[in-house]
Amino acid sequence: MPLIRETIVTTCDAHGRAHLAPLGLIADRDSWIIAPFRPSTTLENLRAVPYAVANATDDVRVFAGLLTGRHDWPTVPADVVPVPRLAAALAHSELAVSAVSEDEQRPRFHCRVVAAGAHAAFTGFNRAQAAVIEAAILVSRLHLLSREHVEGELARLAVAVDKTAGENEREAWSWLIERVRGEEAGASR
Ligand SMILES: Cc1cc2nc3c(=O)[nH]c(=O)nc-3n(C[C@H](O)[C@H](O)[C@H](O)COP(=O)(O)O)c2cc1C
Repeated sequence: MPLIRETIVTTCDAHGRAHLAPLGLIADRDSWIIAPFRPSTTLENLRAVPYAVANATDDVRVFAGLLTGRHDWPTVPADVVPVPRLAAALAHSELAVSAVSEDEQRPRFHCRVVAAGAHAAFTGFNRAQAAVIEAAILVSRLHLLSREHVEGELARLAVAVDKTAGENEREAWSWLIERVRGEEAGASR
């Protein structure tokens, strides 16, 4: 299996409106593959404007927020591509689509890096951040997973949050839990 980096991907539509989404970038030698499942705004944007920015951030509220209806994260212009980057990015890579492998479920956009920047220091691993990322992935797949599986995984991940989270991680976690409980309440009605 190739290396996957969990990033916030920014893209733009034909009118220049920015869109942010958490996506795992797949390593492919010296380039990256963006592989959105259909339907996806990121996918439509990459067809309209074949550029993206991969943003590395340790603010896990952005991951949790984007999956729970909180889309308003500040962006600033990138250096080369016509797509903004996340203002809170520790680092970013500017990507140009070089080829597309078509697929009914999950097309793959092969991207080369045309610019990159570093903006803030990486200050160390935090287990609660990893737990929030895992929980965000669960939330993005609630429609595919059983309730038992989701509850079991959340109980396991909650240990790291309880032991190691800071304020941002607790807030991000609360948004995800609120979403899971909301879905469950809806399902049992
Ligand atoms: C860490 C993380 C990685 C993700 N990676 C992918 C991915 O590679 N492909 C995908 O289709 N969705 C992925 N998702 C789910 C998307 O973020 C979610 O479906 C989002 O709504 C994308 O759709 P959009 O392009 O319409 O915004 C990921 C979610 C998280 C939290």
